[in-house]
Amino acid sequence: MKIITIVGARPQFVKAAMVSKAIQSKANLNEVLVHTGQHYDDYMSKQFFHDLEIRTPDYNLAVGSASHPKQTSKILETLEPILTKEKPDWVIVFGDTNSTLAGALAASQMNIPIAHVEAGLRSYNRSMPEERNRVIADHLASVLFAPTLEAVNNLKREGIEGENVQLVGDVMYDAVLFYSAKSDNRMDVLRRLSLSSSNYLLATVHRAENTDNLEKLSGIFEGLIKISKIMPVVIPLHPRTRKALQNADLLEMVENNLVVISPVGYLEMVILTKNAHAVATDSGGLQKEAYFFQKLCLTLREETEWVELIELGVNTLVGSDSTMIFNAFNSPGQEIQVKQGIYGDGDSAAKIVKHLLKYSS
Ligand code: UD1
Repeated sequence: MKIITIVGARPQFVKAAMVSKAIQSKANLNEVLVHTGQHYDDYMSKQFFHDLEIRTPDYNLAVGSASHPKQTSKILETLEPILTKEKPDWVIVFGDTNSTLAGALAASQMNIPIAHVEAGLRSYNRSMPEERNRVIADHLASVLFAPTLEAVNNLKREGIEGENVQLVGDVMYDAVLFYSAKSDNRMDVLRRLSLSSSNYLLATVHRAENTDNLEKLSGIFEGLIKISKIMPVVIPLHPRTRKALQNADLLEMVENNLVVISPVGYLEMVILTKNAHAVATDSGGLQKEAYFFQKLCLTLREETEWVELIELGVNTLVGSDSTMIFNAFNSPGQEIQVKQGIYGDGDSAAKIVKHLLKYSS
């Protein structure tokens, strides 16, 4: 059975690393790896392939940055000849990026069954490109691998249920378990940045809804700067956010107060998360990684797809209001215990592959 795996952005490299390992362990599965090139800078792409030990992609579409419609259509167009040539039995797409959307559309238009990994997540905020992308991918997919019970229920509400929805757990949990020990030889990142364990806040900001809205962008950074008076704040700065801060004339002030660094690879990010006092982020993946490493998370958004974390009280939605951000950071912390099973048992990738094998003739 031939599977085409489509990746393009950082979180997909992490998810695909685990699924590809599981595919490679089966002699009767043949995987063709396609990188759309949505993320292309060495520190956004190559470093992840290196850290996660993912083989060189069979195809790199090198689409680069562009508006959502242009990026999506470029991927669609360049995928067609590859799908025609390779004739896969399945296409696997991950998450909610433009690469997910374009991969799903291309496969669907060519009548190739789609497996969607991380299906069923909803923020119920259609102004987010990610929400639109994941809804469409879910509705085009033949098999939907849901990470949580909440995701299964979301799909049910949209009329998607039955054998084609599989609750397998979260492949990002598999990844944390697999790579955590491997990250230990990257501990020097803390020394390099003069950070001491449990005594800094790790922050990331990259969502368009935050970077492209000046009020939100300044509110978030004002909040982080307030925190930096109490504890160092380290922020691996996404290129989109750097540009937005530059355009708003805020970059210098941010650099004067926070420990601003370039985006880091997966293993250094694991070290920075594992050793942080707490995390503040608008990323979906990092909210869970914080939890896996028992860190309190301030989510710099109005809503989250990972509602279980809110219910557990380990994640607080603070939006972009500087006072809310600071107060949530300053409120007494609690001991975080990882509750067994809510994100699976660390064998999600194996479950995905086992299920796909049921379709092999
Ligand atoms: C994308 C995903 C988002 C995911 C994120 C992970 C979509 C709609 N969004 O957002 O869901 O959480 O990846 O990081 O697909 N850029 C560079 N170098 C790069 C990549 C991007 O400089 O290697 C800059 C470009 O100016 C680009 C901007 O960052 O315009 C945004 O990049 P893009 O890939 O379109 O979206 P992300 O914000 O990274």
